Amino acid sequence: MRLEFPKDFLWGAATSSHQVEGSNHNDWSEWEKANADRLARESEQTFSWNPNWNTFRSEATNPNTYISGAACEHYSRYESDFDLAASLGHNAHRFSIEWSRIEPREGEFDEAAIEHYRQVILALRARGMEPFVTLWNWTLPLWLAEKGGVMAPGFSEYFERYTEIIVKALGMDVHFWITLNEPDVYTAHAYLTGAWPPQKHGLISFFRAQSALIHAHRLAYRALKNRFPGSQIGIAKHNIWFEAADNTMWNRLLKWSADMAWNQFFLTRIRNTQDFIGLNHYNHHRIAGWFRKNENIRQTDFGWEYSPESLYHAVTELIPYQKPIYILENGIADASDTLRQEFIPTALTALHRAIAAGADVRGYFYWSLLDNFEWDKGYWLRFGLVHIDYATQTRTIRPSARAYAEVCKTSSLEIEK
Ligand code: FCB
Repeated sequence: MRLEFPKDFLWGAATSSHQVEGSNHNDWSEWEKANADRLARESEQTFSWNPNWNTFRSEATNPNTYISGAACEHYSRYESDFDLAASLGHNAHRFSIEWSRIEPREGEFDEAAIEHYRQVILALRARGMEPFVTLWNWTLPLWLAEKGGVMAPGFSEYFERYTEIIVKALGMDVHFWITLNEPDVYTAHAYLTGAWPPQKHGLISFFRAQSALIHAHRLAYRALKNRFPGSQIGIAKHNIWFEAADNTMWNRLLKWSADMAWNQFFLTRIRNTQDFIGLNHYNHHRIAGWFRKNENIRQTDFGWEYSPESLYHAVTELIPYQKPIYILENGIADASDTLRQEFIPTALTALHRAIAAGADVRGYFYWSLLDNFEWDKGYWLRFGLVHIDYATQTRTIRPSARAYAEVCKTSSLEIEK
């Protein structure tokens, strides 16, 4: 049986600047140098619970794994990488602009860097791929990080000014903008748990950082709309499918609270300044009392539960917003590619079911096109449709990518029964 996706559906994959470009100089690259030894040392403790740990132990305990360095050299190899994506049938692609390249010093904008991203956009258009451009995927110019990052006085206005420069230069060639990537995940790790730079801990800093980002989004939205009223703007929102383990009032109440706090809060606050909902989806949390009780029958290399069907729930829970939905990230870390070959068709079947249930989904971007630098986990997690040999920069298309290519090329999926 063949599942057909809606007309003009967009198919592709996503990346982000710091994770693939290489040679970035920003708050993360500095933090990596100061923290690589610690991360390597702690990995044993942090990940010993992971059933896949033995496979990765030698890589994960090596400090070099935690230095982004040359990454995938995508900054210079983007054309051949886009050739690969085009050969895999992708008709859209999501990437991010690196703020630290555009504004390396406060108020100084680098024309060559802006021109680079213009060429990136033109290279996508030349291959028939619709660009989805993210303005901020977590990394900050050093001067801004030194002032306090997203908590710096005037952060939102700095972001607005950067947005204005970008939209003035590139707006003619871009229709879809994502202002912020996962503001909730970022603020949780950078300001609440203290795992990511600038490693702050505290509920108050978490909420203040969220407010700054909400304000920044609204200003950027207005800056983009003022120049290009027809452009389509959203954020990439990390939503989890929270499932009540049973029908008790208590577990249903906990599910509702988790939805409100994590899934709905940010979206509600920006309700009038988004044209579409961008969904990043990876996780399912089954709630039983205060604990997460996932069945974890299978787990990805990250140790996350393998749960492709949860995409159905994450998507249908967005129907009440009555906006077009784009899946901006969905994928798994799986170095062996065996789970991924099953994951993609299963997730897409769930997505098709969500569309049949009334969700206005218009595109799907697998995370990620390439293996890449996974933040404080470094290089040992592999999310790519395309394998990267970091020693030689050789790209190898994985079998799952070829199966996904058939879906992209036909905009349909053959399933059994
Ligand atoms: C998401 C991030 C993305 C990538 C994936 C695996 O939370 O948006 O940059 O690291 O996780």
